[in-house]
Amino acid sequence: MKKEDLELTLVLIKPDALKNSLTGYILSQLSEFHTGLHFAATKIVSVNRILAEEHYAEHVGKFFYPSLLDYITGRLHYPDEPWKRRVIAILYQGPNAIKKIRDIVGPTNPHNARDQKPGSIRSLGSVIPVKDASGKEIGDRSDNLIHASANPEDAEREIKLWFKPTDIPPLMRIYDAEVNEEYYYFKDNAISTMYEQGSLCVFAPGDLVWKTDLAAVRLMVAGKEAPCSVNAVVAKYLINKDINNE
Ligand code: PPS
Repeated sequence: MKKEDLELTLVLIKPDALKNSLTGYILSQLSEFHTGLHFAATKIVSVNRILAEEHYAEHVGKFFYPSLLDYITGRLHYPDEPWKRRVIAILYQGPNAIKKIRDIVGPTNPHNARDQKPGSIRSLGSVIPVKDASGKEIGDRSDNLIHASANPEDAEREIKLWFKPTDIPPLMRIYDAEVNEEYYYFKDNAISTMYEQGSLCVFAPGDLVWKTDLAAVRLMVAGKEAPCSVNAVVAKYLINKDINNE
């Protein structure tokens, strides 16, 4: 099997798709029959704020960023039913996985999707006005049902943000993983090798972890600058944990 045949991409079926019972339709559109791609991993995630902020980190400061967080955490579509706030995260694998999925998903803005790619998944989405604190309209938000990685760099960052190596069957993993040999704990937005009351153990000896995560935490505990944030490493270990950070 050649490496390019194992390309991975992340798909998030967002809360508006779940609310409108479009999950089955989307899975069918992305099925092996239509795309030739295979499932490599899947999980149902109640998206906490840490994960939402990391996933959309490149959009910090844009007018739609706060509503993007409320959207992906499910607050917008399930304001009074917090237990229903979920996203389905799926990895698809196969030749040209990123492009094949993006083509079926369609343009980001559902109005553009309807114009430019009728029949694409996002053509079924909505465009919602975004208002500032005074109620003045400041632009639009795209409730576009689905997220799909845009390019190989985004795919690697996003896949390592949402999934641990052991979430993916060994022969489907394409990023290097390594067996960790130390205890690493998370507390107050910092990584430490020392346990304190209230710390969360993120890596224990013997755990298989992304090599890039291990390199980052080693730099963090040495007080050096790491290529990513603490939250980018720990977010996947906080998925569906009972943390007070919604
Ligand atoms: S994309 O589809 O990922 O290539 O789009 P990109 O421009 O990189 O990412 C933008 C994400 O923010 C969401 N969003 C908006 N983008 C632009 N303008 C407005 N007004 C806006 N509102 C929301 C957009 O849906 C992208 O998130 P995803 O999850 O990829 O759809």
